[in-house]
Amino acid sequence: MNKEPLNEKEILEELSKYKDKDLDYDDGRILGSMCTKPDPLAKEVFCDFLDSNLGDPGLFKGTQTLEEEVIADIGSFLSLEKPYGNIVTGGTEANLMAMRAARNIARDEKNITKGEIIVPKSAHFSFKKASDILGLKLVEADLDENYKIAIDSVKENINENTIAIVGIAGTTELGMIDPIEELSEIAISNDIYLHVDAAFGGFSIPFLNNIGYKLPNFDFSYNGVSSITVDPHKMGLAPIPSGCILFREKKYLNAMTVEAPYLTSKEQSTIVGTRLGAPAASTWAVMKYMGETGYEELANECMINTQFLADALKKEDFELACEPELNIIGFNHPKIPTDELAKMLEDKGWMVSTSSYPKAIRIVLMAHISHIHLTGFLASLREIKADYI
Ligand SMILES: Cc1ncc(COP(=O)(O)O)c(C=O)c1O
Repeated sequence: MNKEPLNEKEILEELSKYKDKDLDYDDGRILGSMCTKPDPLAKEVFCDFLDSNLGDPGLFKGTQTLEEEVIADIGSFLSLEKPYGNIVTGGTEANLMAMRAARNIARDEKNITKGEIIVPKSAHFSFKKASDILGLKLVEADLDENYKIAIDSVKENINENTIAIVGIAGTTELGMIDPIEELSEIAISNDIYLHVDAAFGGFSIPFLNNIGYKLPNFDFSYNGVSSITVDPHKMGLAPIPSGCILFREKKYLNAMTVEAPYLTSKEQSTIVGTRLGAPAASTWAVMKYMGETGYEELANECMINTQFLADALKKEDFELACEPELNIIGFNHPKIPTDELAKMLEDKGWMVSTSSYPKAIRIVLMAHISHIHLTGFLASLREIKADYI
């Protein structure tokens, strides 16, 4: 550490050297991220609320109201009139809270001490963290031919220790939507907690369906659904970190409550103690700024780009892992190994990711990717093909 203080100019100059090494969403080269450039207004609001602490909400009553309003507004497009929950750091923390609530309820109501959770093989790795932290056994259900959870496999894996079933609305690798209606029926008939991880799809599926898409529903209109994760910092254009956990009933929050004696609120259900208010305020701002029509247009534009790229890839002899349901595409070339293709794309400046099941190049068509970027990407693929084959 420096002994003498540096002045502001020196610090900022030094910092910009680091920042210059970061990629910029505007270049359209980040093709494998579920995050994107946040809305400028949301960024401004974020900075304004950097000193508000929702861990001590009696001191920041205005920000607390903003959090409650965001929860209510997100509930309104997920078919729940009175949701309970919090704005948290992202999908990982939201999923952890859901699994903690499910574990505690099963312990308190059914005396289950060696809980198991059934997640699809496609589930985000945050469930591995949750099972490790919470001492729950993770049971992976198989996928069907469309990479959605196989209902038979869920049924086969249920036993007296099953404390939760998880379905995904927008899988991390391929953007597929699990059959939540069927999972809800299973959850009700077996009296098991059902959590839906809509970290990615939560801010797009409802809006796409508003404008005529016919995507499977995943929300609280199914009575078996107890909680839903939605990430404003993915398709919601909010700055990182902004995740959201919604519960159908207050009892799930109560099941996690601990005393917080020295604070203005005498109890807490969240995992984090000191909790930044900026994500709640900036999510509130971006949701007001976008409105339903803004999110409909945004999701639709991402889907139009997805369809364009999917069609173009097929014309160039690439094979899709499956027909995209949301704005994620997995693809391969029959003659080029996936990892080699990813490396060659990276050498040309394209930051793609690869999915593990099935192994494929994975492109997430977020708001920062435009048609012109895609035509450049396709040109690079053509060059790679010509050189390789
Ligand atoms: C479906 C799903 N759930 C949860 C997460 C975890 O979200 P975060 O990285 O915000 O913690 C992700 C992240 O990509 C995801 O795709």
